[in-house]
Amino acid sequence: MIIASNLKTNLTRSQTTSYMMDVENFLEKNTLSQEILVFPAQSSLSAHSGQVTQGAQNAYATTNGAFTGEIGTEQLEEFGIKTILIGHSERRHILGESQESLVTKFNFYKNLGFKIVYCVGEPLDVREQTDEVMMKYLDLQYEGIDTSYENLIIAYEPVWAIGTGLTPSLEDISKIHLKLKEKSTAPLLYGGSVKVDTAKDILACEGVDGVLVGSGALAVENFCKMITFAEEAGK
Ligand code: 13P
Repeated sequence: MIIASNLKTNLTRSQTTSYMMDVENFLEKNTLSQEILVFPAQSSLSAHSGQVTQGAQNAYATTNGAFTGEIGTEQLEEFGIKTILIGHSERRHILGESQESLVTKFNFYKNLGFKIVYCVGEPLDVREQTDEVMMKYLDLQYEGIDTSYENLIIAYEPVWAIGTGLTPSLEDISKIHLKLKEKSTAPLLYGGSVKVDTAKDILACEGVDGVLVGSGALAVENFCKMITFAEEAGK
């Protein structure tokens, strides 16, 4: 399974370095077969070697250039980063990234062979409508995306569950994941208010290949516990 921590706009570089080291130490002491990804804040990226894969929460579709506030592959290469998160709901909804711009970014990083964690998810007003409406909404987020890309991981993150403490029922998580799996055979993570208390049950759901965790993984010991739960789930 894939256990991923999205640190968002949290932790300084030194805090992030010790977070990464704590996870590495945990993995060294325990023989585990999970794939571990950590996405630090942009200014907290640094050189890292070990079992944990460091990814970027965002980057522009460029090598370098005049894109104020963005980073490109020149900055990622400095730290050997070949993994990127694309389409996170906070970038879609707060930063206003369109599906068109996400497709451009996706194709740029796909052509460079990056591992891409591509996020999809519906807001509450869509969720409150019929299943058909919801699936149509999610369909649009797959538009233009090469769902057979070999280095693709998809994360289903309902917008209304992110940072709210709310999650869909376990039945709903399975139901939606199985539907989304009809669109792509890429590993499918669940994200949205996963906590140490709920991770075990979510990881056990049919159709769930891992989790993408925000606030619930900020305390490194909780993130490590989730890695153990994934191992115990034996998938
Ligand atoms: P929370 O776990 O804080 O709800 O955030 C989820 C998320 O957005 C992970 O990418």
